[in-house]
Amino acid sequence: MNRNRRNFLKVGAAAGALTLTGFPHIWSRNASLAYAADGEIKVGVLFSLTGTTAIIEESLNKATLMAIEEINAAGGINGMKITPVIEDPASDPATFAEKARKLVLSDRCVSVFGSYTSASRKAVLPVFEKQDNLFWYPTLYEGRECSKNVIYTGAVPNQQQDDFIPWLVEKFGKRWYLIGSNYIYPKEENNYCKKLLEKLGAEVIAEEYVPLGHSEFSSVINKFRSEKPSVIFSTVVGDSVVALHRQYRAAGLDPATMPMASLTTSENEVAAMGGDAAAGHFTSAPYFMVFDSPENQKFVEAYRSRWGGDKVTHFVSESSYFQVHLFKQAVAKLAASDISPVTIREAVKGEQYKAPQGLVKVEPENLHCWLRPKIGQCKADGQFEILTQSADWLEPNPYSAYPNQKCTAEGLKEI
Ligand code: ACM
Repeated sequence: MNRNRRNFLKVGAAAGALTLTGFPHIWSRNASLAYAADGEIKVGVLFSLTGTTAIIEESLNKATLMAIEEINAAGGINGMKITPVIEDPASDPATFAEKARKLVLSDRCVSVFGSYTSASRKAVLPVFEKQDNLFWYPTLYEGRECSKNVIYTGAVPNQQQDDFIPWLVEKFGKRWYLIGSNYIYPKEENNYCKKLLEKLGAEVIAEEYVPLGHSEFSSVINKFRSEKPSVIFSTVVGDSVVALHRQYRAAGLDPATMPMASLTTSENEVAAMGGDAAAGHFTSAPYFMVFDSPENQKFVEAYRSRWGGDKVTHFVSESSYFQVHLFKQAVAKLAASDISPVTIREAVKGEQYKAPQGLVKVEPENLHCWLRPKIGQCKADGQFEILTQSADWLEPNPYSAYPNQKCTAEGLKEI
């Protein structure tokens, strides 16, 4: 155990005793416990730089660091510098939890930006809830979570599927094959998809899950060939996205008659598989790299100039970037002595930011974001053509598949 952690535990124990005797102010003013000290605010950056989801998380790490550098270069937050403490949880949920504990308890980070898979978010959640700290999660996910310790800046199912599923049914037909990685995210996302399909009179002809990191899709592709679905709805993640697309293409299947429709395939995976393998398939997301806005032009230029002219931006790197700016705006509203995970959470409620995808907002009730869904079709050059976009930002409903439940500022309610 390092010295910081020992000191923190010692003072923490004393704090508990003082709280019981009614003098919490004695320790809460202790400068060694302040989150903003010596002109800096420490934040954790917890993305996998190794392992099966490094393919995407490495770019989230880069977008986060770029936003921090931008803010620091422009004078920091009320003159205070943001100091990132970077950890590599190696695509392993248990390591995520261990590193999250280190960042919150030993490093005294006031917030942690991190993680891609829902498995890793679920692994760190108890750390943030127990310590009343704040986790900023940029990834699209399955919803069905209502925590006051997470700011969710990626899309939930209603924001990716409400426009996408009816559009696909109308364009391609009603026989759907669901293929996903085997963990909570694809299963819950498919649960909502099946409800939408049922309303549209469409049929699920197969629902199949492969292990995380799976790379051998020949038997799956044989079934695509024999079943001839109208749409393959894919929620596979990480390296598997690359393998699935490449093997689909090598098998000579045709996206014009049997497209893959994905909630996870971004410019990032497409860069890894090559545009040829992705061309013709569809993705629903709030952001695509080609989106035409001054904020996006600035974001793409800055990203390429910081990390390399061949690099791509995508819908999870975009939210990784804008969530740091939301953090900045929230912290800027606070006096240095008041900065804590709890005060930041209150300050970020309702906060808006002109992101590369358009204006976004943190919903005060459930700490998810209002986003701007779009449907893109991949082209051989590795970019998407944006075919539709929602007329306005769309409210996040993390319980869209569970209409009897609602996430509110007071917690999960039965309605
Ligand atoms: C995910 O696991 N939320 C993609």
